[in-house]
Amino acid sequence: MDSTLNYNYKVVRQFAVATVAWGVIGMLVGVVIAAQLAWPALNFDVPWLTYGRLRPLHTNGVIFAFGICGLFTTSYYVVQRTCQVRLFSDKLAAFTFWGWQAVLVAAVVTLPMGLTRGKEYAELEWPITLLIAVVWIAYAVVFFGTLIKRKVPHIYVANWFFASFILAVTLLHVVNGASMPATWLKSYSAYTGVQDAMIQWWYGHNAVGFILTAGYLGMVYYFIPKQAERPVYSYRLSIVHFWALIFTYMWAGPHHLHYTALPDWTQSLGMVFSLVLLAPSWGGMINGIMTLSGAWHKLRTDPILKFLIVSLSFYGMATFEGPMMSIKTVNGLSHYTDWGIAHVHGGALGWVGFITMGSIYYLLPRLSGQKQMWSTRLIDLHFWVATIGIVLYIASMWIAGVMQGLMWRAVNPDGTLTYTFVEGVKATFPYYVIRFTGGLLYLGGMLMMAFNTYMTMRGRELATARIPAALSAHA
Ligand code: HEM
Ligand code: HEM
Repeated sequence: MDSTLNYNYKVVRQFAVATVAWGVIGMLVGVVIAAQLAWPALNFDVPWLTYGRLRPLHTNGVIFAFGICGLFTTSYYVVQRTCQVRLFSDKLAAFTFWGWQAVLVAAVVTLPMGLTRGKEYAELEWPITLLIAVVWIAYAVVFFGTLIKRKVPHIYVANWFFASFILAVTLLHVVNGASMPATWLKSYSAYTGVQDAMIQWWYGHNAVGFILTAGYLGMVYYFIPKQAERPVYSYRLSIVHFWALIFTYMWAGPHHLHYTALPDWTQSLGMVFSLVLLAPSWGGMINGIMTLSGAWHKLRTDPILKFLIVSLSFYGMATFEGPMMSIKTVNGLSHYTDWGIAHVHGGALGWVGFITMGSIYYLLPRLSGQKQMWSTRLIDLHFWVATIGIVLYIASMWIAGVMQGLMWRAVNPDGTLTYTFVEGVKATFPYYVIRFTGGLLYLGGMLMMAFNTYMTMRGRELATARIPAALSAHA
């Protein structure tokens, strides 16, 4: 049975539009901070425009607003389609939408005011942290409730990835969020010293593993087969991929704390698990890309498929680079430098961004009763502009990062440093300008998507407006 009337598409549509809107906002802030790194005067001496306050606004905007709205959109759609039932509760689903938007608006207000818990990716102060917990529980109830009332015996693999993302975030958020409130707007972590650091990076790395990876793999296993009109290359591999990935990710966090006060054996263990992580990551990437076998020609004409498949290439690149950077000697060079930023954005722009954009482009026409997006050529232009943007961003940051690492460790024969720190900063300037240009292009692509979304949705409204008119004409 495939009656779209039996599915709750309203909440999916709301989250899809929110994903696009927050994408524009989060990336705009990214471009602003990229400009500030090149031209620091751009904070205009206004406290809430300073880099230290806008940077967390960017990370929250792109991960929790753009990224997680994209995951809500796709998980709500996929779970309904693959279980062949409507969402467990429309009211709770609506609550997750409005509750999550409230969290995001609170972030937009408090972060520029300088209110922060000071933990990266877990900055929001305790009342907002509590609200996140409530919304997340509602999300879990809607998602698992839908799985329980499914009409098909099998749970499709995409749902396993979404489920692990929802469960892991609950665990991470509760453990790392534990803190002692001092006032309404200030709290202190429940942990101290190196334990605090360890818990923070167990959280931080698994945010990468379960938000920026597992959730998006859910998209891979649904939208690539759909758009390519081919079955998953190996369903058996997808199951092995799932269990191997979620088991391994949990242990890799210490690679963020190499050469710190954390016991040395813990760092080495984190490194070993990070190296092992290459295998399931690449298994999943190959499974996704090979799904296209027999349909490669579609890449020539289908820009949505280009987004989906190229995202996997960036995923492969980031998950090769990550294990290399987790080797302690390599990390000794890369840590603190812009190489880390190149790695992050290869994953963020290429993988997370592209798979989300491809999936949302797939969904929008279906959610608005149209045959296709308003302009397929604009999707193609978006793809190329964004791809050039990514290449400029990550290539400049790779070069800058390796250069910084080498300059910082260069010593003269008498043991003194060859370069002062400021010489490294000066040498980085041209690369910051190139990164800013790349970011601008990527944002330009996102604006094209927003326009295309608006025009497609407008088509839906016009179509709905025509129905009553046609009815009255008939009467
Ligand atoms: C127009 C696109 C974007 C631009 C121009 C941009 C720019 C930046 C800049 C300048 C920084 C600070 C770098 C530093 O501290 O040296 C940053 C950090 C970060 N961005 Fe972006 N960004 C963009 C898109 C994204 C997207 C889409 C995501 C995620 C889905 C993302 C995730 C992050 C993360 C996680 C960090 C923190 C990295 C770290 O602490 O190592 N960015 N971004
Ligand atoms: C096999 C998979 C991966 C491994 C082993 C890995 C490993 C690493 C390592 C070693 C670092 C540098 C830590 C440091 O020097 O502080 C890092 C940073 C980071 N990686 Fe990955 N990575 C992987 C995949 C990914 C993917 C797919 C993304 C998606 C966007 C990603 C996002 C990040 C972020 C956001 C950071 C910066 C964290 C921070 O310092 O704020 N990683 N990763």
